[in-house]
Amino acid sequence: MKQLVLFFSMFVIAGFAAAADLSAGKKLSIQCSVCHGKDGVSRNPEAPNLAGMSSLYLEKSLVDYRKGIRQDRRMSLIASALSMEQIKDLAAWYSAFEISVKVPEID
Ligand code: HEC
Repeated sequence: MKQLVLFFSMFVIAGFAAAADLSAGKKLSIQCSVCHGKDGVSRNPEAPNLAGMSSLYLEKSLVDYRKGIRQDRRMSLIASALSMEQIKDLAAWYSAFEISVKVPEID
């Protein structure tokens, strides 16, 4: 029983250690705001909006740029300077934005 408790508490501790840090993501996002907008909504027609995207998608895109699977002269350079932890923090930050979608009413 004691071993079982120890086994599960290790998972809980590991879970906390892996949790993304929103405030770290906010700080890191300053360097992204030039192109992606301070609110994650881009005013630059070349840069996509990041606000409200799924954290999994954001994380995968950044990892792909870092690995060279996805290439863009700006993003490849930026992502290669980010650690995995920073990528998770940034993904958590932008995915926490709430966006509203309005379906146009047509008859
Ligand atoms: C110099 C401008 C610039 C800066 C600074 C910048 N980006 Fe980008 N970002 C772009 C452009 C342009 C694209 C579209 C590239 C493409 O077509 O693959 C992009 C694409 C992305 C994508 C993929 C989005 C999608 O819809 O697939 C993510 C995620 C992203 N950027 C995150 C970031 C983060 C996080 C930062 C800050 C650490 C950052 N970017 C900084 C210009 C920038």
